Amino acid sequence: MGLSSVTNWATPARLAGLLMLPMLPVQASVEDVKLLPTPPMGFNNWARFECDLNETLFTDTAKSMVSRGLLDVGYNRLNLDDCWMTHDRAADGSLQWNSTLFPNGIPWLAKFAKQHGFHLGIYEDSGNATCGGYPGSYGHEKQDAETFADWGIDYLKLDGCNVFAEDGRSDAEEYRVRYHKWHNILSGMEDPLIFSESAPAYFCTNDTDWAKVMDWVPYYGELARHSDDVITFYAEGSPWESIMANYHFHTRVVRYQMPGYYNDPDFLIPDHPGLSMDEKKSHFAIWASSGAPLIISAYIPDLSDDEIEFLSNKDLIAVDQDPLAEQAALVSRDSHFDVLSRSLANGDRLVTILNTGKNTASTKVSLEKLGLDSTCQYRARDLWTGAVSTIKKSIDITLDSHATSVYRITPPRGCTSVTPTGMVFDTSSGRCLTAGKTVSFASCQASDSQAWRVSGTGSKLTISPLSDVKKCLVVGKSGIDLVSCGSGSSATWTYSITGHLQNTKGGCLTDSAGAAKVGTCNQDIAGQIIGLPSGVRLADVGVQQ
Ligand SMILES: *[C@@H]1O[C@H](CO)[C@@H](O)[C@H](O)[C@H]1NC(C)=O
Ligand SMILES: *[C@@H]1O[C@H](CO)[C@@H](O)[C@H](O)[C@H]1NC(C)=O
Ligand SMILES: *[C@@H]1O[C@H](CO)[C@@H](O)[C@H](O)[C@H]1NC(C)=O
Ligand SMILES: *[C@@H]1O[C@H](CO)[C@@H](O)[C@H](O)[C@H]1NC(C)=O
Repeated sequence: MGLSSVTNWATPARLAGLLMLPMLPVQASVEDVKLLPTPPMGFNNWARFECDLNETLFTDTAKSMVSRGLLDVGYNRLNLDDCWMTHDRAADGSLQWNSTLFPNGIPWLAKFAKQHGFHLGIYEDSGNATCGGYPGSYGHEKQDAETFADWGIDYLKLDGCNVFAEDGRSDAEEYRVRYHKWHNILSGMEDPLIFSESAPAYFCTNDTDWAKVMDWVPYYGELARHSDDVITFYAEGSPWESIMANYHFHTRVVRYQMPGYYNDPDFLIPDHPGLSMDEKKSHFAIWASSGAPLIISAYIPDLSDDEIEFLSNKDLIAVDQDPLAEQAALVSRDSHFDVLSRSLANGDRLVTILNTGKNTASTKVSLEKLGLDSTCQYRARDLWTGAVSTIKKSIDITLDSHATSVYRITPPRGCTSVTPTGMVFDTSSGRCLTAGKTVSFASCQASDSQAWRVSGTGSKLTISPLSDVKKCLVVGKSGIDLVSCGSGSSATWTYSITGHLQNTKGGCLTDSAGAAKVGTCNQDIAGQIIGLPSGVRLADVGVQQ
């Protein structure tokens, strides 16, 4: 059963239809990009303070964000996380703030935020109780939404603890029903609250369920937490590994992001004592490169000047806030480097190179791999140093362990065309589509046989490896094959929000234990959820760019 058989779900097809009707009530998410045209930036207390939040923390943080320049560069949200409320609802059923923690009250704090140039956001849960054991909103959704709006709040992070499936529904279906209810309530309000959905994070250990949930979040809200909470200040464990774990989930969901909806890999944690300066900067650079929410969870008054400086990097913030809202996708991956790329609204191309290894290492990234023309010379700006250089043929770079470089590449006249190029991979196994005598899914090694050019749009994509650009991926007699482009075989493909890469002859590209096969398309089945280079248009989402 496909999800599209569910009647009250806004399918891509319906969505495309809806957009043609001018008399709609106010909508949100990808249905109406205006609610959140670029990813949110600001502060949340959770990863740094967990339940130890209070009014003073928020007012001191706000003052510091003003005086240290963070507000000026765009960090304009103050978001309360769990534990702000009392254990009981009021007699009329409404939520109440803990007045020891918030002596002036949350409406006062919202006013304070506004007076200083910020928006106030809040946290609730779609279940019977929040993760911290405070009243959940289940059965009180409309009342709680109205309470938040009355208090002057315009952003809701809705968590998913203590959700119990009802009416014989699966867990994944139960979350869909609850978040859909919230979507209808919030998007029907006179001033819709921005809706941050935590639902996918509850399914990231099961690829099938995770994909099912990810498939609807772009239609219900403006951002969604796709993976676990980033490590908190007080928790045991490696903060770098925690950041990398969320980053890996992030690289698997590129196709969902578009203006109005942003994949959320969770907070920036720049004062975590377990991170080196290179790791903190890489965290920021990768999040900004991917157009992710930039929500700082740190004690901002005590951040070092160096930390404030990198968090305020205007070139990287401009990339994060770029109106095209493309998420950078993997160009290549090997045991030393991840290379990511995307386009920007003015026609520039971004490349982000992360040394994931334990040692200093060097690499070369060719212009072809970035989807550019090797016969042209490009101007590149290093977004950390501001240094401008000319690139011919390739970027050659040496990076320390866990350091990241980001270049903004500007084409000269006559060289403005870009072809989405990079990894085609099974988002479940992580294996890379590899050209060779036979086409296979193999471990990623950053070779030209694993870098694919994806040309065309919509249902007419053609896919060629850089190692043999005159050959196209086809469904041949014996399955997936490479033949000379234009030789009559079925060489056109469609890419969908489900991650299916479907051949016009029928059948989906399938990673079958490393063999590249053509299989019957089955929604949300591991092995058929394929990641493509950034900038490939989905055939089934009719939203405005
Ligand atoms: C508010 O919270 C901060 C951070 O947990 C804490 O250091 C401070 O003592 C608290 N202040 C009050 C007045 O409770
Ligand atoms: C408010 O928070 C304080 C500090 O965490 C706690 O001791 C107190 O019990 C809370 N009050 C209510 C009414 O929940
Ligand atoms: C959750 O809350 C609902 C509504 O109050 C109640 O009917 C249900 O029994 C609760 N479920 C659990 C497991 O506590
Ligand atoms: C994932 O969840 C589905 C139910 O949605 C279940 O059929 C499947 O067995 C689960 N997979 C694993 C690996 O647990």
